[in-house]
Amino acid sequence: MKEINENLDAIANERTQFHLQEVVVVNRVEISEWRETNSFLNKGDVVYGREKDKESIIEQLVMHASECQGVSVLPIPGIGGLGKTTLAQLVFNDERVIQHFEPRIWVCVSEDFEVKRVIEAVIGPSCGGSNLQHLQTQLQDKLNGKRYLLVLDDVWNENQEKWDKLKSILSYGSKGALVITTTRLEKVASIMRTLPTHQLSGLSKEDCWSLFKQGAFQVNNETPNLVVIGKEIVKKCGGVPLAAKALGRLMHFKIEESEWLRVKESEIWNLPQDDERYIMLALRLSYHNLPSKYRQCFAYCAIFEKDSKIDKNRVIHLWIANGFILSNGTKQLEDTANQIWNELYWRSFFQEVENDDFGNVESFKMHDLVHDLAQSIMEVFGSQSGLRSLANERLT
Ligand SMILES: Nc1ncnc2c1ncn2[C@@H]1O[C@H](COP(=O)(O)OP(=O)(O)O)[C@@H](O)[C@H]1O
Ligand SMILES: [Mg+2]
Repeated sequence: MKEINENLDAIANERTQFHLQEVVVVNRVEISEWRETNSFLNKGDVVYGREKDKESIIEQLVMHASECQGVSVLPIPGIGGLGKTTLAQLVFNDERVIQHFEPRIWVCVSEDFEVKRVIEAVIGPSCGGSNLQHLQTQLQDKLNGKRYLLVLDDVWNENQEKWDKLKSILSYGSKGALVITTTRLEKVASIMRTLPTHQLSGLSKEDCWSLFKQGAFQVNNETPNLVVIGKEIVKKCGGVPLAAKALGRLMHFKIEESEWLRVKESEIWNLPQDDERYIMLALRLSYHNLPSKYRQCFAYCAIFEKDSKIDKNRVIHLWIANGFILSNGTKQLEDTANQIWNELYWRSFFQEVENDDFGNVESFKMHDLVHDLAQSIMEVFGSQSGLRSLANERLT
């Protein structure tokens, strides 16, 4: 022990001599299936108030786009949580669209807009080399002469050159092909568009209420008093479905009127925020209302790559390995962890679930704003508890 201590002291001294600083590095998990994104709506999820948006987009696609040579691009810009991905899914799965376009390809681009990676995602598992020239040929083989539909979901790239390059590759030999792109940045929409952008507004008061109500009143009775308070809470969502859904599900667990009032009057709403930050407040409020044993499990999920598909079993085992799941004597740790997962899913922290052939949840995703929330918590809480280094250790 003495010797080891001396060695450690020597190393520590060297660190000071070289002016090295201690930092915590979170090793992101390398998700090879980053491109396997979800074009399906979860069964049972009702989509409110997007019929008009859907019709107007489909009309543009089918009527106008098919007259154009090359590829047309229709952007859907809007703040996080507004329902861009959901709307694109509605369009993507509409029967008329299925009839009109072939193939239909869905790519979740997220922050990594490398032309090569996008092409790889479009062509699927590639055989042979991966130099750009080769990939380009494969892409053109796949799309040449086809009236395809490509959804590029969640694009952040503001670099015109990169986009022009991809576009020229995508345009090759195509007639009436279409790209729909969703983005949080107006600038991205203006760089990419060839068709008018589809301006997506927030849900109407009624639709927002329906969405909130769907979560809030399954256990609670819809008493006049709770309805009045609920409507005040819904106003704070600004028509953003992500916020309405999360708050509705939060209220689901609150039976007493006083608890509803407390949420309505929460100080959190008084913080000065822009639109997007405001939605974060709704999510943060939902987080603060989680039982403490759930919080750590949720924050831990920040270690996964944004927008990636997360394997549910892996998460559950990582929670257990990190000691977040406490045994209560009777239940298996896995069962407790599973229950926590279900609860987090129910509260909208997790979404886009995919099931295996037996109907068990195989993987899920986190909305990017929810991921931002987890990351912001991890930054404070993780550095205090050594959570990050633990996570780092387990995942390397
Ligand atoms: N019109 C809607 N009705 C009901 N739920 C919706 C609607 N639009 C979005 N949602 C839900 O809100 C959340 C965020 O939507 P999403 O489409 O991912 O937003 P964005 O892509 O704009 O960030 C998802 O959980 C989605 O199921
Ligand atoms: Mg999205």
